[in-house]
Amino acid sequence: MTWRELRAEVERELARAGVGPVETEARYMLERASGYDAAEWFEIADAAPPALAERKLRDMVRRRVAGEPLQYVLGGWGFRGLDLFVDPRVLIPRPETEWVVEVALEEAARVGLRRTRRRLSLVEAHVPAAVADIGTGSGAIAIALAAELPDVEVWATDVSEDGLAVARANVAGCAATRVRLAEPGAWFDPLPARLRGSLRLIVSNPPYIAEHEVSDLPDEVAAYEPRGALVSGPSGTEAIEVLLERAPEWLAPGAALVCEIAPHQAGAMTELGRSLGYETVMVRDDLTGRARVLVARTG
Ligand SMILES: C[S@@+](CC[C@H](N)C(=O)[O-])C[C@H]1O[C@@H](n2cnc3c(N)ncnc32)[C@H](O)[C@@H]1O
Repeated sequence: MTWRELRAEVERELARAGVGPVETEARYMLERASGYDAAEWFEIADAAPPALAERKLRDMVRRRVAGEPLQYVLGGWGFRGLDLFVDPRVLIPRPETEWVVEVALEEAARVGLRRTRRRLSLVEAHVPAAVADIGTGSGAIAIALAAELPDVEVWATDVSEDGLAVARANVAGCAATRVRLAEPGAWFDPLPARLRGSLRLIVSNPPYIAEHEVSDLPDEVAAYEPRGALVSGPSGTEAIEVLLERAPEWLAPGAALVCEIAPHQAGAMTELGRSLGYETVMVRDDLTGRARVLVARTG
């Protein structure tokens, strides 16, 4: 059997299982199993796949057909140009969160941090400004901030030890030496006390789904992604409330908390931010016009 024939078989199996878009998913899996990308396909199309690669591909198809998300099956996913390792210990990084990072970078520029995009390096000097990613999961936000803000060190926390193991693998894989992964712990608790009042930016994509909303989630999400990364509590806003209440203790004057929210939470969370004494509280729309990013600036 050639790669071309195997590809046709994979596409038939995915189509039969109603998984798709078939051609795109088959291409991702073939790239991962063969080690060749789409541009190199014609170099291998008529060759026989090595037994190990074929076994790997068939295993991926079996898991995908059983309903596992494509990203876990592939064992990796892209986030702002980074290739991150993901598995069911962490939330799959979403495009919405790429936009949260974009807003955070605008806030970073506002507070005077230099923004450039460059390769992360294994050898990097100590840098004085600190920012934090609270609830880091795969490390997506923290590593993206380190990649795009060359003069900061990024502290990352998570309550999940399993999640932090994935973040650790990604930090090492991306050579993100300016990312400091704190010991497992709730919200700000694992941060060193010396950072109090000094963070120039706090970014978070906390769990914000209410318990009663879980039944509305797609099966793929509810069955495979970690519940602790998705569900906040009865109202869905519990985690955002903690962040709004506790961030001022850690933020420098004039700094900002940037937090992903669901659109229906925008009004209540803006009001809470104002009542807590933030100087400016606003909600930024994403590219589809949905209110998705809460920005709360200290005075
Ligand atoms: C929605 S996921 C976001 C993951 C990642 N930052 C991203 O954007 O893809 C929320 C993360 O918050 C973490 N988390 C939940 N409760 C927490 C708590 N009390 N303290 C710190 N992190 C928490 C979860 O383990 C999970 O990794």
